[in-house]
Amino acid sequence: MKYNIAVLRGDGIGSEIVEEAIKVLFAIKGMKEKIDLKEYSFGGCAYDKFSHAFPSETKEGVMKADAVLLGAVGGPKWNELPLEKRPESALLSLRKTMEVFCNIRPVKIFDSLKNLSPIKLENRNIDYVIVRELISGIYFGNKNTETIGGEIAAKDEMFYSESQIKRAIDKAIEIASKRNNKITLVDKANVLETSRLWRKVAKEKVRDSKTEIDYMYVDNAAMQVILNPDKFDVIVTSNMFGDIISDESGAIVGSIGLLPSASISESGLGLYEPIHGSAPDIAGKNIANPIGTILSVALLLRYSLKMDIEAEIIEKAVENAINNKILSKDIIGESGFSTCEIGEYIANEVKNLSN
Ligand code: NAD
Ligand code: IPM
Ligand code: MN
Repeated sequence: MKYNIAVLRGDGIGSEIVEEAIKVLFAIKGMKEKIDLKEYSFGGCAYDKFSHAFPSETKEGVMKADAVLLGAVGGPKWNELPLEKRPESALLSLRKTMEVFCNIRPVKIFDSLKNLSPIKLENRNIDYVIVRELISGIYFGNKNTETIGGEIAAKDEMFYSESQIKRAIDKAIEIASKRNNKITLVDKANVLETSRLWRKVAKEKVRDSKTEIDYMYVDNAAMQVILNPDKFDVIVTSNMFGDIISDESGAIVGSIGLLPSASISESGLGLYEPIHGSAPDIAGKNIANPIGTILSVALLLRYSLKMDIEAEIIEKAVENAINNKILSKDIIGESGFSTCEIGEYIANEVKNLSN
């Protein structure tokens, strides 16, 4: 029986980067016999076609798939739509439908890119994981816009229940236990009730584990990831703080285009996407960095299909490309290689490594 992967290319650079990721996936020996891909319309392009950014056919497709690969969604064309019709709302709805509460974003610098990082790294190493709660918090609380006292007022509520926090902390502990057993809870417990609940739950949870925990306010954390990125092992945090620290981490490793992510549900469903967006400013130019998406495929193989060896082959092939200076414009400027060239190089490396 073959595995079923649902592919959602999305908008902007989504299609270009997913194309290369598929190329790399099928460069692994024997993969065509193991995997069936099925593409579904999702995001702004789906809105244009079906007047719905998350059409019912796509919903059915992702729910019967073994894993989902997503490019990115959104763009200026859809920015004026009401919030609930926007491609970004479809993305939140996809995550909620799949119940992928835990977004794992590994942040690792490649040795040969250290000199290109905007941070002075010298002999320091960056290797941490952001565990971001993904289907609650301020993104999913009650929201509205209304007229109060003759002026417009808007509201976004932040909500967290104990069980929602517990499962995120549990995942962080599990991930830390396979690393250096150190968790940093990033919050704003000096101001927010939700953050105080996160601290209470985290304290209770780590008491029964071998994991060491420290607590850091998000404003300080935003500074510490720049000053001392090598001090982190696992960062666990709420939805919005995790979003912000992620892009910052992208800059530290050399480009947001390099970072992958895996979003996991309690029942084992997995959604895989790079951490960046649809990059409308460079869409259609064949210059986007496909590595975040290619590494997301490696995570898909590891977490959803339990194909560890194949995941490592992709990761090794990416490392070879980077060490051999097959780099895109976001990293080295004008002399950079194109999206296709990078995809082809990595696919070729994968072919050699899997033979
Ligand atoms: P973005 O991540 O799309 O782009 C930010 C900057 O990084 C841009 O200069 C872009 O060119 C660059 N960049 C991003 N990915 C790159 C890559 N692979 N290679 C080279 N450069 C890359 O963020 P934005 O501009 O704030 O958002 C654009 C659209 O994407 C918005 O509609 C936003 O809502 C959406 N978005 C979607 C997702 C997603 O689908 N998961 C994530 C973030 C943003
Ligand atoms: C991300 C994106 C999304 C998020 C947006 C597009 C809704 O920024 O995946 O990081 O904030 O989760
Ligand atoms: Mn983001």
